[in-house]
Amino acid sequence: MISPFPLKTGFATLEGTRKFAARFEGRTAPGHFRERHGLMISSIGAGTYLGEPDAATDTAYTEAICAAVRGGINLIDSAINYRLQRSERSVGAALAGLFSGDFARDELILCTKAGFLTPDGDMPADANDYFYREFISKSIFAVEDIAAGCHCMAPRYLEDQLERSRRNLGVSCLDIFYLHNPETQLGEVPREEFNRRVSAAFQTLESAVTAGKIRAYGMATWTAFRSDPRAQEYLSLEQMTGIARQAGGNEHHFRFVQLPFNLAMPEALMRPNQTVGGKTASMVQAARELGIALIASASLLQTHLAGKVSEVIHATLGLRNDLDCALQFVRSAPGITAGLVGMKRLEHVRANLKIAAIPPVPQEQFRRMFAAAR
Ligand SMILES: NC(=O)c1ccc[n+]([C@@H]2O[C@H](COP(=O)([O-])OP(=O)(O)OC[C@H]3O[C@@H](n4cnc5c(N)ncnc54)[C@H](OP(=O)(O)O)[C@@H]3O)[C@@H](O)[C@H]2O)c1
Repeated sequence: MISPFPLKTGFATLEGTRKFAARFEGRTAPGHFRERHGLMISSIGAGTYLGEPDAATDTAYTEAICAAVRGGINLIDSAINYRLQRSERSVGAALAGLFSGDFARDELILCTKAGFLTPDGDMPADANDYFYREFISKSIFAVEDIAAGCHCMAPRYLEDQLERSRRNLGVSCLDIFYLHNPETQLGEVPREEFNRRVSAAFQTLESAVTAGKIRAYGMATWTAFRSDPRAQEYLSLEQMTGIARQAGGNEHHFRFVQLPFNLAMPEALMRPNQTVGGKTASMVQAARELGIALIASASLLQTHLAGKVSEVIHATLGLRNDLDCALQFVRSAPGITAGLVGMKRLEHVRANLKIAAIPPVPQEQFRRMFAAAR
């Protein structure tokens, strides 16, 4: 589907995102915006993963994104496969409204991901036939590039997906472009071949930066950076940044990692599964050393934390609602730039914006709460 409006030029800048933060002074608390990699990033980001691929959900996401931005959230997270491209298009519709109103392109940090094979808007009757016609017959990828029957990070595929995402979102440049769950490939691709694929992907993404189509890239992961180093899906952040340095030199643009982090999945802080310069480190420590900003996904564990938050945490945070506690925990964690929350209901946007109006928990208090959470 071709975007009905011309692509909006520009990208998020320090000046623009500072202007965004300044709009919300007094409405959001000090500490809600954090400066990373030349951007003022809100501590809560709007996610767009869950939901049916239908028109009602499209409208809900469009309205929720508008409300989130109008309330002080400037980090918007999508992926081309979320709801079969419909989440990106819902964000695109929200952006068209926001840009024709009060907001400028340089105030918003737009993120998306590529890697999973993705139909176009609805499920084709014969998915194999669709992927053959759309990609294999055009030599965008070969059958050997597919892993686990669903994942591909071949250069021409990433280029194709980036073009589609730019059109879906209606913008000429994306601020962060993630390889989506690259560890999916490690289930069947030997590590040496995996690293070769990551290297080719990073070279492609460095070229996309040079072409002005993205500003930075990253890896959005599920198990890779949380697991034990002996696990098949484990990734070393030091090794991935080494591959980025080979692709883009010391000024490479691999700058963000997304990983689950919440009250039930605290590994990024707790598990010393990384090594930097021969020293053992947690993911948070490794990311700090290697100049990578961490973005938490599944901040509420998809609401499964409701009913599971202890009294100690309620008391320490001074918040009664379990999911409020969960979000405050994530955005207060040292080394976590922002916590993404999927939100398509306006009442949820409003509830999460109330947390943006509270300062993150001071480090000492966080440590006590963290000890209690374990
Ligand atoms: N590997 C990856 O790359 C990866 C994996 C997972 C997630 N992510 C990203 O991270 C984002 C967040 O993760 P997620 O969406 O899976 O899970 P989540 O943010 O932990 O939970 C989302 C769920 O919480 C509900 N919710 C939001 N605010 C609420 C509130 N204040 N009170 C009660 N319920 C509330 C939402 O409902 P409504 O939607 O109905 O408002 C939705 O059902 C995703 O949207 C996606 O952008 C990335």
